[in-house]
Amino acid sequence: MATASYSKTVFLTGASSGIGLAVVKRLCAAGWEVWGTARNVSRLPVLTGFHPVALDLNDPENIAAAFSAAAVESGGFDVLINNAGDVINAPLEALVQNGLRAQMETLFFGPLELIRLALPEMRRRKAGMIINVTSLAVQFPIPFNSGYSAAKAALSSCSECLRLELTGTPIRLVDVQPGDVSTEILNRTKELNLPECAPYEPMLAHARAAEADKMKAACAPEKVARLIQKLLNAGNPPPRVAVGNFFEARLATTASRLLSRGMVERLQRWMYGLK
Ligand SMILES: NC(=O)c1ccc[n+]([C@@H]2O[C@H](COP(=O)([O-])OP(=O)(O)OC[C@H]3O[C@@H](n4cnc5c(N)ncnc54)[C@H](OP(=O)(O)O)[C@@H]3O)[C@@H](O)[C@H]2O)c1
Repeated sequence: MATASYSKTVFLTGASSGIGLAVVKRLCAAGWEVWGTARNVSRLPVLTGFHPVALDLNDPENIAAAFSAAAVESGGFDVLINNAGDVINAPLEALVQNGLRAQMETLFFGPLELIRLALPEMRRRKAGMIINVTSLAVQFPIPFNSGYSAAKAALSSCSECLRLELTGTPIRLVDVQPGDVSTEILNRTKELNLPECAPYEPMLAHARAAEADKMKAACAPEKVARLIQKLLNAGNPPPRVAVGNFFEARLATTASRLLSRGMVERLQRWMYGLK
């Protein structure tokens, strides 16, 4: 990738752990100024060049207020990284009334609102880079994580539309799609156990166990952070990049292009122990 030089003020959501924290450490070490968010700022790191921001993606008024205050403090952002995320695990039938909207706020409407807030300044500066951390779940939707998979797919699809709409501008946008990454996300996954879940047993239990098992081969968050730093320095970054262990990021993504959707679905049933 050819290199470009942004002058590096970054607004990054989800800086308190996992991928976001790994990105913060790399960028601050490289001398960038990062405004990083968490709902509870006491979870955020203390580092030279790091500026803590309290932000809850499920609170639209808070998003606007937090971003605007940080933009004033920083003088405007060169880079927006939509990284924060969480998972609510349940059969779709239970999720519809118990978390689907929350997942869409956290993983879709919140990030889009930040993009809406960040774009005018990027246009004014005639420079800017947006990174949306979605997921390989866009290509391989995860059973019982339907809200998560759908919200990530929606953000990925909007990313493609926006890239087209930004034609002729110097603003770049990359959809980063991680596979399993060894972070707090699995332990923090909210597993719903409502009466509506009962008809899905024992498949629900099998799928949850398979997800935990898959995580044993997860890559380190530093691998994703390295990729994000490389993308930030690239003059002409690719629209979409998968990252993770070799099986997920290379073999599975290639297989999904070559195999029929029916075959992919059979593979997923086998992987998640669904029968
Ligand atoms: N780990 C994986 O296997 C994996 C795979 C594919 C994609 N991803 C994506 O990568 C991104 C980072 O995840 P991670 O694995 O690094 O998870 P993580 O270690 O659990 O970190 C998640 C971050 O998001 C923040 N967050 C969660 N819900 C939020 C909300 N409603 N409002 C504001 N901030 C919120 C958390 O902050 P506080 O809780 O401190 O507020 C935390 O900083 C997510 O978008 C995730 O979907 C992860």
